[in-house]
Order: sequence, then structure tokens, then C-alpha cells
Amino acid sequence: MAFPNKLAMFVRKLFLVFVVSTAHSGGYFGAYGRHVRNIEPNGISVLNGADSNQDSLPRFTEPVLNVTVTVGRDALLACVVDNLKGFKVAWVRVDTQTILSIHHNVITQNPRISLSYNDHRSWYLHVKNVQEVDRGWYMCQVNTDPMRSRKGYLEVVVSPTIIDQETSSDMVVLESTNVSLTCKATGYPEPYVMWRREDGEIIRYNGENVNVVDGEVLFITKVSRLHMGVYLCIASNGVPPSISKRVQLKVQFPPMLSIPNQLEGAYIGQDVTLECRTEAFPTSINYWTTERGDMIISGSDKYEAVSTDNGYKKYMMLKIRKVSKNDFGSYKCVAKNSLGETDGVIKLEEIPAPTTIKIITHHSTSQIKKGTSVRGEDSNSENKFDESTIAEYEYESEYTLPSNGPPPIKEPPVGGSAGSNVFATVSSLLLYVNLYLFVCSYLYKLVLR
Ligand SMILES: *[C@@H]1O[C@H](CO)[C@@H](O)[C@H](O)[C@H]1NC(C)=O
Ligand SMILES: *[C@@H]1O[C@H](CO)[C@@H](O)[C@H](O)[C@H]1NC(C)=O
Repeated sequence: MAFPNKLAMFVRKLFLVFVVSTAHSGGYFGAYGRHVRNIEPNGISVLNGADSNQDSLPRFTEPVLNVTVTVGRDALLACVVDNLKGFKVAWVRVDTQTILSIHHNVITQNPRISLSYNDHRSWYLHVKNVQEVDRGWYMCQVNTDPMRSRKGYLEVVVSPTIIDQETSSDMVVLESTNVSLTCKATGYPEPYVMWRREDGEIIRYNGENVNVVDGEVLFITKVSRLHMGVYLCIASNGVPPSISKRVQLKVQFPPMLSIPNQLEGAYIGQDVTLECRTEAFPTSINYWTTERGDMIISGSDKYEAVSTDNGYKKYMMLKIRKVSKNDFGSYKCVAKNSLGETDGVIKLEEIPAPTTIKIITHHSTSQIKKGTSVRGEDSNSENKFDESTIAEYEYESEYTLPSNGPPPIKEPPVGGSAGSNVFATVSSLLLYVNLYLFVCSYLYKLVLR
């Protein structure tokens, strides 16, 4: 059983050696061509099936065109020969020196290869489900003597793939250590690999701010919390689709804390809000304590603690309702995570209650009343009314500010220390405005009497 097979292989090999050795002297058909010479009875030798006239010999109408195909698709190589007459066409794989087909017969045992032909003129080599091993030169030969041939290149391209085992996966590192993210990809042509952040943010890299880092390795020296994020390794080689892999980088550091306003003023009965900013990863546990270290429970009538998260940043607010004498003193905001703990102190001090503001309200209201009555009596005195209206608005806008306590903060302003200075300034400004109003109203009262 095995014997006929072996014999077939042996014959095939022999044939192959034969083809290769005759490749320069006219291909495997060379010998065949010579073989079919007949000696006529008159002793003149003639070439079977062909004229000695060169013009009547087979002629390629066009080159065998290069073909580029993505792995897995089908490829078609075309060879068009005019004036073939009794000659035969064969397809040969140049690189592996394999005969693929001769005339109407497929010789190769590769089941993916087939042949079609038209009018004894066009000869098509089909390669189904192209593989990378199929890449190379293919020759179309005609058994003239010398052999005539054309060859074309079958390019097999492969879209990129990321090799998971050799590519970094999500990482958790300590701040200030060196981090190396690696991405390996295959494909043909060799893919180009780059790194960028998924959120499009710039990457601090080797002292520069960049959007993209070329190459397989993203090496970050002294990683900072700003490097925390999702990175994309993108591989592309011009063969769609490009591919990417997400790698999350988490940077751990102990909590840090900043207080925009370390001294807060409030008068009795007022609502006041204390603020604290923290940064930590892993996410910290944050809370407020009193001067004595008692944890403040939010949600009571007295306290409302709100914390807003933005990545590794937290913005803490403690609202103290209806400040009483007992509430003055120090408060602590605390942040804790697995790497450490930190706290900060905010002092709440009493300021004089702006009680006189009510009197201003009273006077400005009476002024409006006056104005209104004036307009009721005399419609030409609109200017006067306008003045008093404006005056009223001015008072209103001034006195409403301090009575509302510290500035209402809806969204934490970003940017640590710069923000704190602004807050400190605004807050002290409010104290001055308060004081100023107090004096003004007092003088105003005197003048009116
Ligand atoms: C065919 O492909 C080969 C290999 O890539 C190249 O060297 C050759 O120039 C190409 N020929 C044509 C006609 O494009
Ligand atoms: C981090 O990388 C820098 C630059 O390559 C090197 O000088 C330093 O020694 C590295 N540090 C550690 C802890 O490996």
C-alpha cells in the first residue's frame, strides 16, 4: 500500500530535480521539446506543433501581474499566451521549485490550488484560502525551445494581531517607580506599534509632553499619579483592521490633603461650609472630626458632609447649620488609605452678626415706597424713582452676600494651590464687606435721624 505512494513521491522528486536542473536551458519542457523532434523520412528534422518562424511561436500578451491578497482570501494569477498552438502551459512555484500544473492537469497535491483556462489562451492559477506559505514567485512557462516564461509575485498580507502573552496587562504600581508597558504585535508587513492614552490626554514622557509614544515599549521613569489612566497599544500595518489593546495603569500613593481656607468665620445662627481637598490612590476613606477627635456623622440636623470624587481626587465639604457658640473651634478632615493617613485642621471663628443689615432693608424699602408714591403723584418724576430703585438694588446685592455665609460652591474649582488662594481672598473680602456694611448702616442711621 505504502509502496505505490513512495514510488509516486520518488517520481515527483525526480521530476522536480529535472525541472530545476533544466531551469536555465528551457524549463522542464526543454527536454520534452527536444523529445518530440521527429526525423522525417527525408532526414530533415522539424519541430512538432510549431513553425521555425519566430513570429508564429507562443507569445505572452501581458506580464504575469503581481497579486496582493490578505491571508484567508483567494488569489488568482493569470497567464495569457497568444499563438499557443500545440505547446503547453505550466505553472511553477519558483521559491519551492514545485510544479503546480501542466496543461490541463493540476500536479501539486496542495488541495487549495486549482486551474482554469479559456480558449487555450488564458491560464489561471487559483489559490484558495491563501496562507503565508503561498507568498512568493509564480512562473508561467511555455514549452518552447528555449522555454519562454513570465513570473509574478503573490504577496500575502496579514492584518496585525497583538500577542497577548508578550503584551502588558493592567498594572498597579507605586508612585515614583519606573514602569514599562510592552506591546508585541505580529502581521505582515511588520506592524507599526504605538502607545497613546485612551482619553486623549497628553503623556509626560522623558521630560516632554507627547500624545503618542512610538514603539513597543512605553517606559515611564518615576511614574506619577498624572500617568494614571488607560493606555492603548495600537498596531497597524496598512492591512485593515488595525488593532489595539487597553492597558490600565494604576498608580498608588498615600493620601495628600489641601485646605483652601484654614480659617473660617461665621456668626451665630449662620450656616457655614468647610472645605477640604484630598488626593489618594487607592481611594481613601474620608471623614470629618471635631476638635476632640469625634467623628462627625453626616445627615443630622447639624451636619451635612458631602464628598465629590473625580478620579483619585476628592472634594470634601462639611456644612454646619445654624452655628452656635459650641460650634466654634477646630475641625479636622481626615483621609486614609492602605498606604497612609493624613489630616488637616480648619478653625471656625466667631464674627459679629450683621444684625444692622435688617435696618438697611427697612430703610431701603421705605425709600422705594417713597419713590413709588412720588411716581403716583407726579408721573414726570421717573428719574427720581429710578435712582431709588438702583439704590435699592445696590443694597440688596451687597447685603445678600454676607447673609448667605461663605460663597456657595457648587463645583469644586480645579487646580490646588491657586484655587486655595482665591478662596482665601474671597473669604476675607467678605469679612471686610460685612464690616463695611455694618459701619455704613450705622452712619446711615445717624444721617436719617
Ligand atoms: C512584483 O513584486 C515584486 C516583489 O515584491 C517586486 O520586486 C516587483 O517589482 C513587482 N513587479 C511589479 C510589476 O509590480
Ligand atoms: C528608573 O529609570 C532610570 C532611568 O532609566 C534609572 O536611572 C533609575 O535607576 C531607575 N530606577 C529604578 C528604581 O529602577
